[in-house]
Amino acid sequence: MDAAALVPGEYLLTVSDFRQIAAILHDDAGISLSESKAALVYARLAKRLRVLGLSSFRDYCAIVSNGNAVDERQKLVAALTTNVTKFFREKHHFDHLRQKVLPGLIERARKGGRVRIWSAGCSNGQEAYSAALVILQMMPDVLDYDFKLLASDIDPNMIAEGRIGAYAESAIEDVPAELRNRWLSRSRDGGETRWQVAEEARQLVAFRELNLFARWPMKRPFDVIFCRNVAIYFDKDKQADLWARFAGVLVPGGHLYIGHSERISGPAADIFVNDGITTWRCAQGGVR
Ligand SMILES: C[S@@+](CC[C@H](N)C(=O)[O-])C[C@H]1O[C@@H](n2cnc3c(N)ncnc32)[C@H](O)[C@@H]1O
Repeated sequence: MDAAALVPGEYLLTVSDFRQIAAILHDDAGISLSESKAALVYARLAKRLRVLGLSSFRDYCAIVSNGNAVDERQKLVAALTTNVTKFFREKHHFDHLRQKVLPGLIERARKGGRVRIWSAGCSNGQEAYSAALVILQMMPDVLDYDFKLLASDIDPNMIAEGRIGAYAESAIEDVPAELRNRWLSRSRDGGETRWQVAEEARQLVAFRELNLFARWPMKRPFDVIFCRNVAIYFDKDKQADLWARFAGVLVPGGHLYIGHSERISGPAADIFVNDGITTWRCAQGGVR
């Protein structure tokens, strides 16, 4: 039974192989994977087997089950993460940011204060750049102030794409025309149209590779955290752990935007106060 193929194809993927791979993904990235995702695991990792010249998932598991195989484990995680994103996805968060949050933050920055926004699980940067475009529209001289965005993701390929900041036409279709005309420029990459984010926006956003379940190197708190459509891939305990850690790094009154199907759970549920659709304000104190 155990040696039977879970997915038909060139390489044998057994239940035991799948469980080893799922355990590594859970240990390294906090992501839970059910057996219903076997075809996805097969499709995404078959490429790695080909590159490495292996003939079965059993051989692949022998490589990645060694804790020292840092590089290949990172490739495994990158291959199995879901990076779907879009500019101005869940637009109501950017409306809330513009109307309720940024006026106060901009005033503080203009008085010499510090403002920090974090896109945690940023994929290739479209979430962070959406916020950056709204900020630039409201404060075109923002780069003269202590106002910065951090965009982090576990997947180094996404971080590299974010730093480049060039996107396909389909990615930017929800960018309001006024913002597109001012801070995106059209270029050609081979036969494809790409939209390049302006230098000001690129300077506003710092991209960093970061596993949300590793130690966070940031020393000072954030005013706003976007962590949308990321926790959905984690199990209940990991989600609760993450919300509590966010509460611990937000300023009192700071905001957390989460994905449409996510809910704040665990001890942090008593600390976050609802402030709109999947929009939460951190009450005084936080979990520290
Ligand atoms: C579906 S995308 C969401 C992107 C963006 N937040 C949005 O809503 O459009 C989820 C992202 O979370 C990242 N991710 C998954 N597990 C992570 C972890 N443990 N630490 C950091 N990022 C993680 C993935 O690499 C992926 O880019």
